[in-house]
Amino acid sequence: MKGVVLAGGTGSRLFPLTKITNKHLLPIYDRPMIYFPIQTLVDAGIRDILIVTGGRNSGDFLRLLANGKQFGLNHINYTYQEGEGGIADALNLAEHFADGHKICVVLGDNIIEGDIRQAADRFRQQDTGAHILLKEVHDAERFGVAEVSGDHIVGIEEKPARPKSNLAVTGIYMYDATVFDKIRTLVPSRRGELEITDVNNAYIREGTMTFSYLDGWWTDAGTFDSLLRAANLVAKSSPRSAAEDEAAASTEGAVRA
Ligand code: DAU
Repeated sequence: MKGVVLAGGTGSRLFPLTKITNKHLLPIYDRPMIYFPIQTLVDAGIRDILIVTGGRNSGDFLRLLANGKQFGLNHINYTYQEGEGGIADALNLAEHFADGHKICVVLGDNIIEGDIRQAADRFRQQDTGAHILLKEVHDAERFGVAEVSGDHIVGIEEKPARPKSNLAVTGIYMYDATVFDKIRTLVPSRRGELEITDVNNAYIREGTMTFSYLDGWWTDAGTFDSLLRAANLVAKSSPRSAAEDEAAASTEGAVRA
């Protein structure tokens, strides 16, 4: 399975932070945001990765990541999304790269505590279709929301005013090669974008969508509040933060003594 990180769009909800850089290059505690989705793919055993970038600072991704040596990779592929036609529009640029293989797509602003290895292994065994990861949240109206009945997914609504469940669809999607045929049938939504939720609903209608629940914390980082939450969550689980706390405690101890 190949991996795709979607890091296009203008990040308008983070203006003016995103006026002079791409949202996915902003810091999340001690690392640029784009490091997290790449690490998610690498931890799932995926080594062939495409980054879809966009905007005026796309050259900075190459300067930052080069061939991905910091992730143990030998090579990273890059492509460029014109404008911000939506998540499915950005994914459409991966068809040539996918070349008939299954793909695991991670949104560039999605950060997870754990890993998706089990889900990825499960999808490697699945003949056709798609697999998504769901997470219980308290603010479901911000996300794609799944309606589930037993082990069956009934449908997904994008940012519904009255969510039918508290199950958010995380920005981690696994697809077979028919995803690009499905994207070709899409029409822009009311917000003028090709929606990934419409792609997922096409798989649900076909009866080939499976799902699992994501363990550990999950957050996006596309608004001021979620950017701050992401940094706090990462800091709390970082060994660097623990080491600095220890050093600070021992300095305080020394000063007191
Ligand atoms: O975070 C999970 C949510 O992500 C899902 O629950 C929703 O169903 C899904 O639509 C998406 O919602 P957002 O409205 O939060 O997505 P956003 O527009 O912030 O885009 C998320 C990432 O997708 C962004 O960091 C980069 C990439 N993207 C987005 C757009 C609109 C692109 O690469 N190109 C684009 O044109």
